[in-house]
Amino acid sequence: MRLFPPRPRGLKGRTAELSTLTRTVESAAPARIALVGGGGSGKSMLAAALAHRLSPKFGGRLDWFRVGAWDFRTLVEMLALRWGTTRERRAVVPALREVLDREERLVVLDNHEDDSATAALLDALSGTRATFVITARRCLLSGVLLFPVTAPLVTSQAAAFPRVAALTRRLRWNPLALDVADAIVASRDATVPALDRYLAEHGIDEVRVIDHEDDLPEVALLVGWAWSRLRAPSRRMLGVLAHLEGDHADLASVGALAGVPPAGREAAMRALARYHLVQETWPGRFTLHAVVRYAVTKRTRGDADAAFEHYVSLLEAAPERLVTEQTHLFAAMDHAHRSSNLAGLLRVERLLAQVAP
Ligand SMILES: Nc1ncnc2c1ncn2[C@@H]1O[C@H](COP(=O)(O)OP(=O)(O)O)[C@@H](O)[C@H]1O
Ligand SMILES: [Mg+2]
Repeated sequence: MRLFPPRPRGLKGRTAELSTLTRTVESAAPARIALVGGGGSGKSMLAAALAHRLSPKFGGRLDWFRVGAWDFRTLVEMLALRWGTTRERRAVVPALREVLDREERLVVLDNHEDDSATAALLDALSGTRATFVITARRCLLSGVLLFPVTAPLVTSQAAAFPRVAALTRRLRWNPLALDVADAIVASRDATVPALDRYLAEHGIDEVRVIDHEDDLPEVALLVGWAWSRLRAPSRRMLGVLAHLEGDHADLASVGALAGVPPAGREAAMRALARYHLVQETWPGRFTLHAVVRYAVTKRTRGDADAAFEHYVSLLEAAPERLVTEQTHLFAAMDHAHRSSNLAGLLRVERLLAQVAP
């Protein structure tokens, strides 16, 4: 199982950014760089492309963690599980530092949300040979080089998605929105003028206050367009993916949590993939982009108890899957903490102790 996303295909309009960032890391490693920009502006794709370009310099030692809003303790546990070091409270940080002192390594911390948790982590690991690339919709951290990320090609006014070039301005050059619009048009379920009319009629040009950087009307409206065409099993699977606190999930888990019988799962997922509403981060592992996730959570309800039970019992039966499902175990731990479920916490602890005493 690869633990780093593949080299992105179809990256457009990032020549200048990539060469600036490459030069920066090459001349200033170990570096700490934060790619900061709104939802769907292309930070994660840029981080993946940068890492692949720099891979030879790091001897192929690339690591990708989706950090989200995990706290410091969970973050160090995540790293310890990945690198097989001790989780013991007092020894965990020194053991991680030892790994990072040994060889140069490029560590991507994707989707940073909690400034104090990331600050504590970077501080605990500072002075090692690790270069950190952080992606963040906003970032209040000192001691880090900030690179603003804007939608590709917006400055040259060129269109990165030729098929929906006419929607570029209306979707404000946002590559995520353009990618979904492009998939919708490619599916032949809507033409460019029809989609344009839908967006205009549903208020895309209105100025309003948004909730945060992942609240993007451009994408939410496209999700709304798709929602009315999706059948119930696809909608339920989209809802499950939106509310999962862990990272990517396989079809069996998504289907089970959505109450979709095995025979209908492939088709239900295919309907979502057709409009590019889901991302297949790793073969057979699905996730939603944070912006799509936010749009979907507004239409659906999650069931954190069901997710807890599903993943904890799955891992109790197949502990070897902890490598791939670890973020769901951390989510389970988090949920048990928040709901003061002591019995649940003990089950999670027992599972973790099996892989890393
Ligand atoms: N430079 C680019 N060229 C083409 N498509 C892009 C580019 N950047 C982003 N995209 C598209 O937009 C989507 C969202 O990009 P992503 O990097 O995940 O955004 P962010 O991490 O900033 O939220 C990608 O899945 C891809 O489809
Ligand atoms: Mg991202």
